[in-house]
Amino acid sequence: MIHIREITPEDAGNLLKLMQELDREADYLLYEPGERPVEEEAMREHIRKLDPPEYGTFFAAESLAAEAGDVVATAPEPEPGETGTTADAEAPSSGSAGEMAGYLEIRRLPWKRVRHRAYLVIGILKRCSGQGVGTRLMQQAESWARRHGVRRLHLTLVAENHAAVALYRKMGYETEGRHPASMRLGDRYVEELTMGKWLD
Ligand SMILES: CC(C)(COP(=O)(O)OP(=O)(O)OC[C@H]1O[C@@H](n2cnc3c(N)ncnc32)[C@H](O)[C@@H]1OP(=O)(O)O)[C@@H](O)C(=O)NCCC(=O)NCCS
Repeated sequence: MIHIREITPEDAGNLLKLMQELDREADYLLYEPGERPVEEEAMREHIRKLDPPEYGTFFAAESLAAEAGDVVATAPEPEPGETGTTADAEAPSSGSAGEMAGYLEIRRLPWKRVRHRAYLVIGILKRCSGQGVGTRLMQQAESWARRHGVRRLHLTLVAENHAAVALYRKMGYETEGRHPASMRLGDRYVEELTMGKWLD
């Protein structure tokens, strides 16, 4: 059973652990294993300084089940006319600490001319992917964005990351830019895409 909640500075250690595991197992993230800064206090301070909703926030998807295989999606039906919504009933709560299966980060800049936009980063552990967790995290992000006056969500991804492309297209994101040879994976240069969505 997966529970999604907004994280607090106390989650810094678990969040870092999750990010390090993702760096080890995921093929298309920015950091290679060992490159990510891993100072727990620095992460705690980073989360504190986000001062949600000022500069963004993090959501964690936590497995509350004894076994990762028990993960289920429990998102409520969206309201008519809204694609990626979560009802207030699904607004973040302070769930008990379980294993973090995935996270989504929302980043905002402080300047008035760009307050309407936010940048997303998402990562789900392999053993918990393909079960709707990414979809639910993206719905939470959209719901949070609407509540806090964000009108445009955007992100970047490796073009051959088919799972990510599928998730973002499903959530209504459109390709806005192509960036050839933007990332080097081993001895290959790969294309990155920028995708975005306007929230009506
Ligand atoms: C990309 C990622 C976020 C998707 O999360 P997820 O929890 O697996 O996504 P969901 O289960 O909600 O699936 C969303 C859609 O993507 C599609 N999808 C999921 N896994 C897929 C795969 N391996 N290949 C192709 N499509 C896939 C599904 O068809 C699904 O649509 P559906 O529900 O209509 O069937 C996740 O795989 C991940 O974190 N990967 C590693 C890190 C990463 O690449 N992050 C993105 C960086 S930009």
